[in-house]
Amino acid sequence: MCGIIGFIGNKNASEIIYNGLKHLEYRGYDSVGVAYIKSKDVVIKKDVGKLNEVNSKLNFLDVKSNIGLGHCRWATTGAVTKENAHPHTDCNNIIVVVHNGIIENYLELKNDLIKKGHNFRSDTDTEVFSHLIEQKMKEGKSFEEACSIASRIIQGTAALVIANTEEEKLIGIKIGSPLVLGVSDFGYFLASDIPAFLNYTKKVIFLKDFEMVVLDKSGYRIYTIDESAKMHETEKKVYTIDWDAEQAEKGSFDHFMIKEILEQVDAISNASIQDVKKLEKFSEKILKSDKIFFVASGTSYHASLVGSYLMNKICGISTIPIIASEFSHYINSINDKTLIIAISQSGETYDVLEAVRLAKNKGAKIFSIVNVNGSTLTWESDDYLLMNCGPEIGVAATKTYSAEIVLLELIACFVAKKFEEGKMKINYLRNIIYNLTSESSRNAIKDIAKFLRDKSNLFLIGRGLLYPTAMEGALKIKEISYIHAEAFAGGELKHGTLSLIEDGVPVIALIDEATKDSTLSNAREVKARKGIVIGVSPFHDEAFDFWIKVPECNNLNPIAFIIPLQLLAYYLAVLRGFDPDKPRNLSKSITVK
Ligand code: AGP
Repeated sequence: MCGIIGFIGNKNASEIIYNGLKHLEYRGYDSVGVAYIKSKDVVIKKDVGKLNEVNSKLNFLDVKSNIGLGHCRWATTGAVTKENAHPHTDCNNIIVVVHNGIIENYLELKNDLIKKGHNFRSDTDTEVFSHLIEQKMKEGKSFEEACSIASRIIQGTAALVIANTEEEKLIGIKIGSPLVLGVSDFGYFLASDIPAFLNYTKKVIFLKDFEMVVLDKSGYRIYTIDESAKMHETEKKVYTIDWDAEQAEKGSFDHFMIKEILEQVDAISNASIQDVKKLEKFSEKILKSDKIFFVASGTSYHASLVGSYLMNKICGISTIPIIASEFSHYINSINDKTLIIAISQSGETYDVLEAVRLAKNKGAKIFSIVNVNGSTLTWESDDYLLMNCGPEIGVAATKTYSAEIVLLELIACFVAKKFEEGKMKINYLRNIIYNLTSESSRNAIKDIAKFLRDKSNLFLIGRGLLYPTAMEGALKIKEISYIHAEAFAGGELKHGTLSLIEDGVPVIALIDEATKDSTLSNAREVKARKGIVIGVSPFHDEAFDFWIKVPECNNLNPIAFIIPLQLLAYYLAVLRGFDPDKPRNLSKSITVK
């Protein structure tokens, strides 16, 4: 959803901005641009394409400067063109802006600014911001005042880094989109995400909405902007984060996705290390609430479906999993006795945050499961548990899905007073994941991917805990290999989908001990219609054309069974010539409606 970065200090900005963009590229990769401020002038380089493509054409590194901004774009307003790539400037190239988010009232503002004589050069909403600041400064406001006034005039979401080339200052403003401040002894960083500057500093200040950072070479000042656009200086705590810079690097791996799939051995045990007092709080709240909703999107929603099965199975409590963007349609049943369990890797997903805010307005309590500490969801929640996965860079969520399920299993076990038992099972799963991701297992999956690579449709079936697992497998395959994949509850096949099964149609059947008889009979129905059955299960069956052996892990089957499906999606993408880390049209963190 666009990545933004800014740096000011006494090191060469071009290197810092370029490295930062490399780590932010997962947020948007249809165009990229940089701006460097030098002797009160600005050098802008931008074009359509991925960072390495545009850099080899324009060379982002050949300018020496101490102030810079960068942007990688996931287009929302305005087509993918060079003109629409960021940064954008005012009429006189004094105000330079990079932006992540959507300014909803931009047309109205643009028309008004055009009437006042401003000259627009792009179709973006972002450009409005640079001209609005220019206009306010013309009317006598300081740079800081103009930025704070503009922040209250725009409607929508924005994380902005704004440079003033004459004053050699940077301003960062957060309005609904993520923005963090990095602090080091050689300069200051503003970025959408911590990995952008993790190579340079681990000292971070998390910003809240309507906070504004003013950076010049002497230091930083932070202000809150009140509703009448008045600025109030605030003190903020500097956190030292424990993420390792290496975790945000690909190292010797071809892609982040495969690195992150393999990291699941550790991710599940790291996720299981939780403060018992926090689990107690979650558990008490669950037991006291009248209604419990899970709210999440995409992969995190699939984890919430697993969570709903687990809550029912382990502690007999019913929960309602809802896709975050659908939540507003359930609002009439929310009140102060409702508990919302929001699940989000990024903690910045717009749909999730909107659902949470709606629920809070009705008096509901918000407990969350989040990977990114300091993200907006952590501020919006009454309490939260962290996944402890480190940064997940691949657009396809892998290790955080497993971590989410670990946490949901732990919560359910805590409520059922079976916490130690639950934790032991998670530790036991480590060896299983180690084997499922071993070189020989990977090679076996690669062979199946070779068989499937030219198929245009495939189906997945499962029951119980393996139904959401099938949904998550289908999402992974669609998202990065662009093969149409659809998941069904095994029992639903006969209610319609079976008519699509004919000679050579592949069906991946996920079968565990609990669903053995029923899903096997579905697999046989497929076989009888000449479909190709790929069985994923602890046991073999004659209905299988291919068999991926996965040991029985009972309640943790959703983790064990998703590993081969993540690998299959990965190899399908690679064999079909696609970059699994940067699937077309997508972005890691969806901060728009
Ligand atoms: C999954 O592979 C996705 N890229 C996507 O569905 C993701 O899970 C979804 O956008 C939710 O993100 P979140 O967990 O950061 O809220």
